Amino acid sequence: MTTHTPGLRESATFDRDVIHEIQRAAETGIYDIRGWGAKRRLPHFDDLLFLGASMSRYPLEGYRERCDTDIVLGDRHAKHPLHLDIPITIAGMSFGALSGRAKEALGRGAGEVGTSTTTGDGGMTPEERGQSKHLVYQYLPSRYGMNPDDLRKADAIEIVLGQGAKPGGGGMLLGQKITDRVAGMRTLPVGVDQRSACRHPDWTGPDDLAIKIIELREITGWEKPIYVKVGATRTYYDVKLAVKAGADVVVVDGMQGGTAATQDVFIEHVGIPTLAAIPQAVQALQEMGVHRTPGGVQLIVSGGIRSGADVAKAMALGADAVAIGTAALIALGDNHPRFQKQYEALGSSAGFYDDFQAGLDPAGITTQDPELQKNFDPVEGGRRLANYLRVLTMEAQTLARACGKSHLRNLEPQDLVALTIEASAMARVPLAGTTWIPGQL
Ligand SMILES: Cc1cc2nc3c(=O)[nH]c(=O)nc-3n(C[C@H](O)[C@H](O)[C@H](O)COP(=O)(O)O)c2cc1C
Repeated sequence: MTTHTPGLRESATFDRDVIHEIQRAAETGIYDIRGWGAKRRLPHFDDLLFLGASMSRYPLEGYRERCDTDIVLGDRHAKHPLHLDIPITIAGMSFGALSGRAKEALGRGAGEVGTSTTTGDGGMTPEERGQSKHLVYQYLPSRYGMNPDDLRKADAIEIVLGQGAKPGGGGMLLGQKITDRVAGMRTLPVGVDQRSACRHPDWTGPDDLAIKIIELREITGWEKPIYVKVGATRTYYDVKLAVKAGADVVVVDGMQGGTAATQDVFIEHVGIPTLAAIPQAVQALQEMGVHRTPGGVQLIVSGGIRSGADVAKAMALGADAVAIGTAALIALGDNHPRFQKQYEALGSSAGFYDDFQAGLDPAGITTQDPELQKNFDPVEGGRRLANYLRVLTMEAQTLARACGKSHLRNLEPQDLVALTIEASAMARVPLAGTTWIPGQL
């Protein structure tokens, strides 16, 4: 139990954060909006460990034996599937939430290591298209910035049904970030708070997803892979419905997934952890005979991926690739200590800054302010992101080789054990040192 000074006892139920929030709500009468993902502790990849090879399995030599990392996405129906060099992609983050320079840097960094980046709510910018080797174009409920010409310029299309940070909810972009350019792309008034729709305007159910997929394929000549992105909730059923509707790739975003802006109550209380969602998605794909088969449906997982260990663990659980959002922003320079004074002036600190909605980001990443944007160099940002993606890849390869795998996709649940009963039950791998998986015979 934490105490400030001996004798003062902090309530576990009404701790200082709870008290602060009650007082803030009482003073302002408005709910708390912020960016980033869930901050509460959840069962996560840290609760899993790899069983390296020893006698019963044969490890591969780090510097002499290959461990490949390439991935093909969308070979089920698309004439031109995506061929990526690494299975770590950049998640959709909107221009509006991010500055044009930040979007450019994401394209530069991803392109340098042969992976894809993704547009977001609000449309495609020329900077991003220009710098991205492989660009996935999001088709969202809001339709902000939706343009058939941009659909044709993309390398793949991602139909967004939901996000892990706010399944069942739409995005928010507060007025202070709606500049002339952002407003023009979204056909909105300048400076007025915007709420994105939470569901597609022309759908009443999953059958409409099948119609939409055909429509998008016809607009783009059946060339581009079509992804379907869902926030992790009833993942088993959602994945089955997406596959039945004709998706080439399913993206499952767990509740740790980042956001540019939404209500804190949403971020912390809706959805299921990434760890719990992956086995459900894999089970659905396996039952439909499309998991890790040629011409099958690939699974991209996101929500709290930080390290090569997370990448390798997600893949061992059955993901074909992962997507990163928050970690990519941090790699660009978000929350960097060099802006500590400016963060303090905003009532925050490096490592804690999550007010992406405010448009005051001193790092120049989650802002539309022309002056603040000068603090961010897209070439340097792209270089940093490429470095980070290389490290993630090398870390994942190190772990895969130790498990005797010559390709990252050969990692399997049998390579993993869990440290806690919760993680064991959710990830469906045995508790370390036992053969026990709670809930399974
Ligand atoms: C600043 C920011 C903006 C985002 N904008 C979008 C968006 O426009 N569309 C979308 O589908 N997801 C959006 N997301 C969610 C990401 O695509 C992704 O699902 C999430 O960031 C993955 O979790 P991670 O941040 O822990 O890596 C955004 C996330 C962040 C951090």
